[in-house]
Amino acid sequence: MQQLTIFKTLLIFLFVIQENSCRQLKMKQLECLTYDPEYAKFDLCELDTSLRNNPTLSIAIRLLTIPVTNINLRVEFGLLGSSPPIIVLNNSWDGCAFLKSRKSNKVFGRLYRYIAPYTNLNHSCPINHDVIIKNLTVAEGGSALAMLGGEFVAKVYAASDGKTRISIKVTSSY
Ligand SMILES: *[C@@H]1O[C@H](CO)[C@@H](O)[C@H](O)[C@H]1NC(C)=O
Ligand SMILES: *[C@@H]1O[C@H](CO)[C@@H](O)[C@H](O)[C@H]1NC(C)=O
Ligand SMILES: *[C@@H]1O[C@H](CO)[C@@H](O)[C@H](O)[C@H]1NC(C)=O
Repeated sequence: MQQLTIFKTLLIFLFVIQENSCRQLKMKQLECLTYDPEYAKFDLCELDTSLRNNPTLSIAIRLLTIPVTNINLRVEFGLLGSSPPIIVLNNSWDGCAFLKSRKSNKVFGRLYRYIAPYTNLNHSCPINHDVIIKNLTVAEGGSALAMLGGEFVAKVYAASDGKTRISIKVTSSY
């Protein structure tokens, strides 16, 4: 099932890369949502579009019930252009298992390597501090995300103790 999804994703991306290879991807919209403000809230959820060609994303998540010892992350990745978006990836991972062994998942590993330089979440669980992503950009030439191409929406849900706590949604286009 998972392999089929990845295969489908690759096919669609290959198609989209060819269609769009000379245009530049930009983050257009950012949405942060807490489902449980007593568990986690956003001190910062900002897409800085003042550098027109290179928008940067900064997020600060304040964790109010620490330490966090288990995280389940679900990533939905959809291509825009039809309504509703075509979902090409909808997978979830054990975040703590991943942070402990970062090679355990290829798709997520790739995503994490991309985000890692911009975040303070660079250790294994428990998490006992606020989580910060600072000045992340996808517009760098040759980056994994820029190569994916397409107008897409990526939504990440984080759950712990079996409850969805927050979600972050990024919409990107040319
Ligand atoms: C992704 O999968 C989850 C869990 O299986 C499901 O609840 C959700 O509706 C799916 N999302 C989309 C956009 O299909
Ligand atoms: C993790 O990030 C923090 C804050 O950016 C930094 O001080 C620390 O050295 C990093 N640790 C590792 C293991 O990379
Ligand atoms: C992001 O970078 C800009 C300048 O490059 C800086 O002014 C801003 O404070 C940074 N954002 C954060 C959250 O550090």
